[in-house]
Amino acid sequence: METAPGETRVAATPETVRKFLSMGCEVLIEQEAGLASGFSDQDYKSVGAELIAKGDPKAWSNVDLLLCLQAPNSASLNRLKAGALLVGLLAPYSNDSLAKSLQSRKISAIALELLPRISRAQSADALSSQANIAGYKAVLVAASALDRYFPMLMTAAGTVQPARVVILGAGVAGLQAVATARRLGAVVYVSDIRPAVKEQVESLGARFIEPPELDNAPNESGGYAKQASEAFLNSQREQLSDQLSEADVAICTAQVPGKAAPRLINDEMLNRMRPGAVVIDLAVAQGGNCSGTKSGTTIIREGVKLIGASDLPCTLPNHASALYSRNLVALLEPFIKDGELKLNVEDELIAGCLISENGDLRFSDLLTPTGMN
Ligand code: NAI
Repeated sequence: METAPGETRVAATPETVRKFLSMGCEVLIEQEAGLASGFSDQDYKSVGAELIAKGDPKAWSNVDLLLCLQAPNSASLNRLKAGALLVGLLAPYSNDSLAKSLQSRKISAIALELLPRISRAQSADALSSQANIAGYKAVLVAASALDRYFPMLMTAAGTVQPARVVILGAGVAGLQAVATARRLGAVVYVSDIRPAVKEQVESLGARFIEPPELDNAPNESGGYAKQASEAFLNSQREQLSDQLSEADVAICTAQVPGKAAPRLINDEMLNRMRPGAVVIDLAVAQGGNCSGTKSGTTIIREGVKLIGASDLPCTLPNHASALYSRNLVALLEPFIKDGELKLNVEDELIAGCLISENGDLRFSDLLTPTGMN
């Protein structure tokens, strides 16, 4: 059962339990692990899972594979046997305590954040399945916080103009936000620094804000944006300032993996937004795209609502769990034969995201327990 505060998702649903059973595995589920996602103990029992008490030390010390959303705490990890494999969204960037536990307990671990972005990996891409939910829900949260309609309406009392939405970052979350805001009838503008997304944005009926033309414009590597220089971000902010002054909603999804999120909205830009406008910052856990947003909190700044939303997938836990647990099956199924798990470290997907092999940390730039170097 997930122990991180606010975590409502579960890493296996009755559907995926059935899948693992059909591969010859035995499946243990902690009591009430699925309750917050809408799956009862009985649902798991009826497909053949064995229910165990929360944190049962004997059961934990026997498992070969532990599926999770967020990494269990060190006390829990210490219950695992050497050679067990932990798979989840482990937040591997500079996670000292995780690194220490993996190393001292000789545990293997897959951090799904590092799954290579290649076509073969799409069905296993947990960042995408969760980001998609975040993008969708961000628009619903914005629409209900806004003091206006989203669609254009012609009523007996006159015409209502559609809401104007600016979306910063057109990755998976941003594109789903575009699609959802368009479905609700908003006029949508999108900023991203990867020119490749212009076509996708336009095909969803939104307008693309071309990135500033500078010699040091950041490019992309492996499908991800590279970090932008301060000079580039300055011109981007200048460019966005006018757009935001006319916006009803800004949805911030811009990120650069492993780095602080680019600061795209500063105080001066907020000063130009109208009272009643809404800013939703999905990048708040990485430092935020917008100045002044705070995780899990709504701050009203001179009438502008600043919503720090880092956990939107947890607000749709049933589908978030269903999709996430299918991602896990897609990743692991090729390596399970007759109930036995045999990872192939040469496999491109595994090589990209296996952060620890029996306690040997494989990405020294990423995971280095304090005091090791
Ligand atoms: P992300 O969450 O890392 O970043 C979100 C967006 O922010 C990106 O589009 C990025 O270009 C943008 N961004 C960064 N700095 C910015 C700035 N200063 N201003 C405006 N925007 C900025 O990205 P996500 O959602 O994980 O997707 C990245 C790419 O990977 C996409 O092209 C996606 O289609 C691709 N992808 C490929 C997969 C596969 O082939 N298996 C699976 C999932 C995604």
